[in-house]
Amino acid sequence: MDTSWQPATSDQAAPRVALEKATDWHPASWRQRKAEQMPAYADAETLIAVEAELSTYPPLVFAGEARSLRAKLAEVAAGKAFLIQGGDCAEAFADFNADKIRDSLRVLLQMAVVLTYGAGMPVVKVGRMAGQFAKPRSSDTERQGDLELPSYRGDIVNELPFEPAARAPQPKRQLSAYAQAAATLNLLRAFTEGGYASLERVHSWNMGFCERSPQGQRYQTFANQITDALAFMRACGVSDLSTPEIKRTSFYTSHEALLLGYEQALTRIDSTSGDWYATSAHMLWIGDRTRQLDGAHVEFCRGIANPIGLKAGPTMEPDDLLRLIDRLDPANAAGRLTIITRFGADKVEACLPNLVRAVMREGRNVVWTCDPMHGNTIKSANGYKTRPFDTILDEVRRTFAVHEAEGSYPGGLHVEMTGQDVTECIGGAQAITNEQLADRYHTHCDPRLNAQQSLELAFLTAEALRADRAAQRAAF
Ligand code: PEP
Ligand code: CO
Repeated sequence: MDTSWQPATSDQAAPRVALEKATDWHPASWRQRKAEQMPAYADAETLIAVEAELSTYPPLVFAGEARSLRAKLAEVAAGKAFLIQGGDCAEAFADFNADKIRDSLRVLLQMAVVLTYGAGMPVVKVGRMAGQFAKPRSSDTERQGDLELPSYRGDIVNELPFEPAARAPQPKRQLSAYAQAAATLNLLRAFTEGGYASLERVHSWNMGFCERSPQGQRYQTFANQITDALAFMRACGVSDLSTPEIKRTSFYTSHEALLLGYEQALTRIDSTSGDWYATSAHMLWIGDRTRQLDGAHVEFCRGIANPIGLKAGPTMEPDDLLRLIDRLDPANAAGRLTIITRFGADKVEACLPNLVRAVMREGRNVVWTCDPMHGNTIKSANGYKTRPFDTILDEVRRTFAVHEAEGSYPGGLHVEMTGQDVTECIGGAQAITNEQLADRYHTHCDPRLNAQQSLELAFLTAEALRADRAAQRAAF
């Protein structure tokens, strides 16, 4: 395969974070390792042609942006900022429109405002957006009656309907995924830099079904206070010219680094630093099912200089985690590695303290974030995959309590959410019942928080964070 990728350009002068270069690494070196969760493409020739074509396409993000995200995550690692990472479990080709992108962004902005204002913390905003198309599955195949077909692995691989043609992995879908990611990113950039994300519009994000809810009203109170504070600052001479952060915000993209051929094709050398960057998103993460130390996904991720996330479920042992940290972040550079814990509310106390102690004992500089979604999935009595909102809140509370007890910093939240008024997770202020799941259950994969539930989670987290900071201050 052609490996002479074009250099990615740097558009931003961000501080370089030391990264120990892997000298025995190459964007294709993962191909020598065992790769879990990859589709079996029948048409190898088309796959090679698609990957070759993708490798000539422009990068979706610039290395300098990924570096600036790393610098921001280093602030999170130091306990000076908070990370919100959220979006769909799986983006879908059929669900692709401007309103949906805007609504997810709007809720992420609202959550960020609640946390910034409620906890007095800068918030780093990262979408599970513009590239979250590939899914790991518990089984390679699915059986219905006598028919056994490949599992649905996300729209970048195959289609959801249980029909032989739809379930066959099709390489050309990668080109559609690239196009959708590019258009999504374009709109996100327009929204976040073109005025929509201006703090002066803080009220306008609170629209639609959320506005009249208790969470929406609570948000309204915050928005009024922020508007007053902006008026005060303006009167003092602070303008959006002197403080551009009032008018626009930095927003980053992320997805699971799962379909490695696609990722390899979009990996380029940055001409400024000489480092390799995945240019499909600012941040990539390794899933809980593909984090084998000698596996292909860890091999791929160790060589790219982007910030990397690592999911840690209940089977992650402290020694495994330390070895993975050594492999992925040998230079111990703050901002490089984010550990995303997702145990299930009832397993937090059994799993998290041992991991935190091991990491602290070895002096490793990581960001700890909590994914309260993936360990709390259940099947409802009427057959829906759902997540009880109370259990989700419970995992966040318990995770914060462990970090407080261990002296580590709970640096962020990783959630599956949407701005739409879906009924996929039971409970919350709307008290969605099992029976109501059928009303608006639209996800292609895992159940997501709707806008109200996302806001409710942000308010709870802001309170927990404020309490955590007060406890840390009292300890000194
Ligand atoms: C996901 O984030 O959609 C996912 C599959 O998570 P995990 O790897 O933690 O199971
Ligand atoms: Co998911």
